[in-house]
Amino acid sequence: MTTPVLVAVAWPYASGSRHLGHLAGAYLPSDVFARQQRIIGNEVLMVSGSDVHGTPITVRADAEGVTPQDIVNRYHSEFLEQWELLGISWDLFTTTGTSNHSDVTQEMFLAQLRNGYIDRRTSEQLFDPEAQRFLPDRYVEGTCPHCGFEEARGDQCDLCGKTYDATELLQPRSKMSSATPIQRETEHFYFRYSDFNESLEYFLKSKDGWRNHVMNFSLGWLKEEGLHDRAITRDLDWGVSLPVDDLGEGKRIYVWYDAVIGYLSASKEWAEKTGDMDRWKHWWHNPNARHVYFIGKDNIPFHALFWPAQLMAVGDEFGGEKLHLPDDVPANQYVTFKGGKASASRGVGMTIEQGLQRFQSDSLRYALAANFPEQADTEISEEEIVRRINDELVANWGNLVNRVLSMIYKTCDGVVPEPSSDSPEDTDLLTLIDSSLEESASLFESVELRAALRTAMESAQATNRYLNATEPWKLSKTDPERARTVLYVALSAINGIRVMLSPFIPFSSKKLDNLLGETTGWKRTALAPGLPIPKPEPLFQKVEIEEVNE
Ligand code: MF3
Ligand code: ZN
Repeated sequence: MTTPVLVAVAWPYASGSRHLGHLAGAYLPSDVFARQQRIIGNEVLMVSGSDVHGTPITVRADAEGVTPQDIVNRYHSEFLEQWELLGISWDLFTTTGTSNHSDVTQEMFLAQLRNGYIDRRTSEQLFDPEAQRFLPDRYVEGTCPHCGFEEARGDQCDLCGKTYDATELLQPRSKMSSATPIQRETEHFYFRYSDFNESLEYFLKSKDGWRNHVMNFSLGWLKEEGLHDRAITRDLDWGVSLPVDDLGEGKRIYVWYDAVIGYLSASKEWAEKTGDMDRWKHWWHNPNARHVYFIGKDNIPFHALFWPAQLMAVGDEFGGEKLHLPDDVPANQYVTFKGGKASASRGVGMTIEQGLQRFQSDSLRYALAANFPEQADTEISEEEIVRRINDELVANWGNLVNRVLSMIYKTCDGVVPEPSSDSPEDTDLLTLIDSSLEESASLFESVELRAALRTAMESAQATNRYLNATEPWKLSKTDPERARTVLYVALSAINGIRVMLSPFIPFSSKKLDNLLGETTGWKRTALAPGLPIPKPEPLFQKVEIEEVNE
């Protein structure tokens, strides 16, 4: 039975270069998961795109004296280039700037308005008397009303993750001028998130297997104070236009209301491109589908609370049936560099571009995956990346493949040898590989990718131990028949391990596919004796520390 799986990945703001923390937090884990799900035969739809709206973009454009669209174009093409180099296997990576996205957003908005979950309210918003403009979201900073963090943004606190209205900030400061913001009345549309507190609690409690930190944060929020209604429009001229003109000029839809809708609009865009307009329904109108959201922990409220509420509020008014709710939100914690949270805007940590200049794609992917911050904030220094590559990827896996292929090439006439009767150590090894395959499959189901990688690497270690115990390089002189069997068994083990590793290191796995045959399932297939084995080339390069410190 194949399952339609939506791999929904946080949409990066096209407001600046993304760093290794974003890569390890969302894009890479989603790609690893998607690749494994395809191998086991599920119907994967993996979508995301550039988040092109909101104040992260306009603040940057203002600072550079260019248009928001200039900023978006620059970073969207940078992202596309990097996904290619990193092998991120999107079905679609689009942007929230398409007319399709704006249509879908407006359609959702209108359905929720009809259903009574959106209403108009007048409220006080922060206004800069010098710049003569409202100060939405990132145009203002101040002290977090929840935890006291002094550099909290206008819409969300980076430290405690809570969202609030900018007017709740203590000591607000305009980022436009040095003026102290005043409050001024303005009219906005509000989404009645508070109507969903009970349904959301029920929804969350129906889930098991969610990461503790995600469940605790989300349920905790509902229990402590519950969701408040939030404005979903802003005094801005950049963003999705409102589908009704009640508010007059100068208002746009709030970026966080529209960005999450991207998962649905991108699925529609993808379907249209396949020539089967309704194909998106297979994921969104299907109770048997599985929707998994890959995000960093600052995005938890938007995906585990606000987005499910927005979906519920549409009822069956989008395409005639209810929309599928998130099944899992395996949010990652933060990557830290020298103890500080990696941050593109504050220049902490390596950018993706710098990472790609220094390391081969697979090597970088491996090192980050071995440190995915699944349960706790995780430090990823350059030294740690180098250590993971040299001591693990190269020493354990790369050398294993290289030495077995080289011995076969040299001592077995360049073809996979014919095994003769096997000994218990042979069957023990292959039994271990097969049970590791099962174990890693179940770790993938619970999105424990780091542990799945460790399982694969332990299998490689076991195979290295097997070789050190059997010493085929000596046997080839004393007992060539046994040597051939040992090499056959070792290559059979490799043939299983490469399956477990392929979601993590797709480029080198492709080379092994070319040699040993396509991967056709999450299993170890029997090797055909006689298959040609040409002179091997090392799969990975060791990284010199000096080179990295340049
Ligand atoms: N752009 C947001 C960020 O970088 C993520 C948006 S995810 C989506 O934090 F759900 F809104 F799409
Ligand atoms: Zn806070």
